[in-house]
Amino acid sequence: MENLIKIGKSDVKSKKIGLGTNKVGGHNIFSDLKDEDGYAVVKEALAKGITTLDTAYMYGNGRSEEIIGDVIQDYDRDNLVIATKAAQNPAKDGKIDNSPEFLKKAVDDALKRLKTDYLDIFYIHFPDEETPKDEAVKALDDLKKAGKIKAIGVSNFSLEQLKEADKDGLVDIVEDNYSLVHRDAEKTLFPYLRKNDISFVPYFPLASGLLTGKYGVADAKKFDQFNQAQFSDIIDAIKVVHKIANKLDATIAQVMIAWYMKNPDISIVIPGARKAAQVDQNAKAMDLELRNSDYHAIDEAFSEFAE
Ligand SMILES: NC(=O)c1ccc[n+]([C@@H]2O[C@H](COP(=O)([O-])OP(=O)(O)OC[C@H]3O[C@@H](n4cnc5c(N)ncnc54)[C@H](OP(=O)(O)O)[C@@H]3O)[C@@H](O)[C@H]2O)c1
Repeated sequence: MENLIKIGKSDVKSKKIGLGTNKVGGHNIFSDLKDEDGYAVVKEALAKGITTLDTAYMYGNGRSEEIIGDVIQDYDRDNLVIATKAAQNPAKDGKIDNSPEFLKKAVDDALKRLKTDYLDIFYIHFPDEETPKDEAVKALDDLKKAGKIKAIGVSNFSLEQLKEADKDGLVDIVEDNYSLVHRDAEKTLFPYLRKNDISFVPYFPLASGLLTGKYGVADAKKFDQFNQAQFSDIIDAIKVVHKIANKLDATIAQVMIAWYMKNPDISIVIPGARKAAQVDQNAKAMDLELRNSDYHAIDEAFSEFAE
């Protein structure tokens, strides 16, 4: 599957599946993580042909970028798509900062940790309250012209914030919370993204593991963003996916990932992983092409979350 998609108005081209790396070195977010597992996760992804890596300063305050930087030294940089993000300013106790000075420094620092001389995608990780959004994006455009980044991204921006950021049509890509159980972006962001040639990357595509099918009704407490009725509906909807997975001799996670890969509004799906074995399993979604009828059956099974 060498089906590459172009990122926004940039020259960056990516496969439709990448790796989410908040559990690679993200010791500040998740407990019980081991660096050695992080190294193994990134190596497994690259070995299985996943060449787009999504990281951020925030994942271990640079540790995730360092681990990725170590691993990619053994690979041809031209074949990789490296995306990172920044907004927490370490010089201001982690305060969200989108000032042009900070963003320029953040990119230089990320390049050092990743041991590379350009980033394929750089996202402003979170919007701040002070900086005019189009000014922040202009700073990224300067970095693009200087060859330090190739595509301009924003993350966790509302539609209004995105419109301000994209005043000059410079935004290439948006990353935001989206999954089959969190479908708000379909109504809020997608119409604007389609019209303005902006790519979309959903985060939490597996709803933090819920959509792999490994949880049951008794686990409702772990997912307190859903009420009991919604949670039971999710478990029922996963049964629909399970049937399709059995028919295709695939796992539920693979079918879920294949669903995002077939979705025309989604550019790259970046499931995260704690262990290399999960990456091995998820990478096999690349060989799975859902039939239209199965794609629509899954869409329908989760339609309550699109309302
Ligand atoms: N821009 C932003 O603000 C933002 C926010 C959040 C995330 N992100 C990015 O988006 C990526 C994806 O989000 P996410 O990783 O938080 O959530 P996710 O992709 O919805 O879920 C990933 C988690 O599900 C479990 N899992 C994955 N594959 C599995 C399999 N085959 N079988 C069983 N369990 C499996 C693993 O956790 P366990 O083993 O622990 O269950 C894994 O860490 C992140 O890694 C990060 O790069 C960005």
